[in-house]
Amino acid sequence: MDTIRQNRKTEHINLALTSPFSLSSDFDELSFIHRSLPEIGVDDIQLQTNIGPLTLDYPFFINAMTGGSEKSAVINASLAEAARDTGIAMAVGSQHAAIRNEELAHTFNVVRKKNPNGLVFANIGADAPLDYALTAIDMLEADALQVHLNVPQELVMPEGERNFTNILAKLEKLSVKLQVPVIVKETGFGMSTETLRQLHNAGIQYVDLGGKGGTNFIHIENERRSKRDFAYLKDWGQSTVISLLEAQSVLGELTIIASGGIRNPLDAVKAFSLGAAAAGIAGPFLKTLHDQGIDELIMELEVWKEHLKMLLLLQGAKSLPDLQHCPLIAGGKVREWCEVREID
Ligand code: FNR
Repeated sequence: MDTIRQNRKTEHINLALTSPFSLSSDFDELSFIHRSLPEIGVDDIQLQTNIGPLTLDYPFFINAMTGGSEKSAVINASLAEAARDTGIAMAVGSQHAAIRNEELAHTFNVVRKKNPNGLVFANIGADAPLDYALTAIDMLEADALQVHLNVPQELVMPEGERNFTNILAKLEKLSVKLQVPVIVKETGFGMSTETLRQLHNAGIQYVDLGGKGGTNFIHIENERRSKRDFAYLKDWGQSTVISLLEAQSVLGELTIIASGGIRNPLDAVKAFSLGAAAAGIAGPFLKTLHDQGIDELIMELEVWKEHLKMLLLLQGAKSLPDLQHCPLIAGGKVREWCEVREID
């Protein structure tokens, strides 16, 4: 079983690296209004943000990807070094394999060893019991726990889960019992207002919308087998932009993180303007590490930090909350969605 799981991890990495990143994006349907007189300087801008009790020096992080195989231990070590050298937070991939088999714990906790003082997020599936959550957090001395939702992916996997009852009750228990923030996270299928309200009613405070538009796990799972039964489903879900729009009515109640298909600092700034407290990026940073190495990844993270400041300046915004007062004009399908769903 462990070997099957380790192979799956490696296949996920290989397929994520070779899958075509979508060229068009709902982020391109959103435009800021240019301001010729922002009347601020780069030094006026501060990028710090909060996820509950956690302060992130920069409002973007390396999102959950891997762990559980020797290859992924090497990747996690490099990602952790890049996170440490740039001061950004990072998450590991699902820790279930190492919770069941302690011998694999090093493939995850290498992240904490490389980055003793950085912000690190643990990761488990939403069906996991409380003791799994505690073990996952201990393994990394994690600052937060991501709990991922991935129903479409499970259904597409022949060996995947088929029963999704009582998940909300489990999430509620985790958020009550754990000492660290619990971030409920989608994995590239996005969320709706209805889902967000269900989570809020269950006591969840932190949500990563994990929208469609970037790494696509229906595509990846289909590529793993010769009979590609679910190819027709690869467009399933809400994009990150649509998910952010769906989140507008719950912004005061939930801390929202945007991820899924965030390709560049401008996409991230659009997400902040729509109320996201932070942006998670997975596939694109993995690709830079794989294709160009750790020094290039560190340089890319530094460029993101610098460009984010410049983009806030362009909008005359001194901080992320200021950006929420900078209007975005929506076109095309995004505008149609807003009309049908009556989102202002
Ligand atoms: C992922 N992702 C993921 N998410 C999660 O919560 N637990 C996991 O174990 C994994 N595993 C994983 C492996 C690989 C190789 C990739 C690329 C991604 C999903 C990830 O965190 C994110 O939600 C999606 O990849 C969408 O973001 P990007 O890639 O479009 O920035």
